[in-house]
Amino acid sequence: MFWAIPLMSLISCMHDQPAMPIPVDKICFQRQVLPLFVNYCSRVEGGCHDAGNPRISLVDHAGIMRGIQEGNADGSWFFHTIGLSMPPGAEPQLNAEQVGIIRKWIDQGAPNSNCENLPCDTSRLTYSNSASAIFSNYCNGCHDSWVYPNALGFSSYDRAKNSISADPEKFLRSIRYSAGAQKNMPPSCEMNPCDRMKIESWINRGMPY
Ligand code: HEC
Repeated sequence: MFWAIPLMSLISCMHDQPAMPIPVDKICFQRQVLPLFVNYCSRVEGGCHDAGNPRISLVDHAGIMRGIQEGNADGSWFFHTIGLSMPPGAEPQLNAEQVGIIRKWIDQGAPNSNCENLPCDTSRLTYSNSASAIFSNYCNGCHDSWVYPNALGFSSYDRAKNSISADPEKFLRSIRYSAGAQKNMPPSCEMNPCDRMKIESWINRGMPY
């Protein structure tokens, strides 16, 4: 049964359809909102809100919508708890910009939108203008947590560079969900392809600051 939960969560993540195309000025659920819930709320090994949690599972649109009122961030239970009781006190917290994105998405009607029609520009990326925010959105909720003191880190330039340089192939296998990966990262849901390509392109260009 060990394999069952990760497999289930992967499937629910990828088949939470239908996702619809979206105009550029709208928040994109799959690229901007889902990673935040997965990263900050769904921790796999701590009994948090992953696909194995029968009551509150935050790894796909359907699960998240159980605590969201379309068009009304302030009336949404899940939104209300952010920064108050969730994530719990000692855990990495969402920053103001990330909370603002969730608010805007709810106020826009909380659609299950994807971003297939948005361009994915992977040129001229640096840690400061791009990779740092991607790590913050997808990884730091666990990798900055006291729960995993020995985990790699991505929350500063030096930590990210050292963590990746230690074994770049292993890093890439993890984020690509490759067959040979020891651990798929992030564990409960693959990165959006555009964000993953941005990280790969940044690494290929020597991880500029
Ligand atoms: C839900 C929690 C969680 C999230 C989100 C998460 N990780 Fe991890 N990650 C872990 C844990 C737990 C480990 C194992 C840590 C240890 O060995 O102490 C780990 C290990 C890793 C490893 C080592 C893999 C191996 O084969 O040993 C890499 C690389 C990694 N994570 C990268 C990432 C990246 C990049 C992201 C964001 C794109 C990310 N992780 C998001 C929890 C998470």
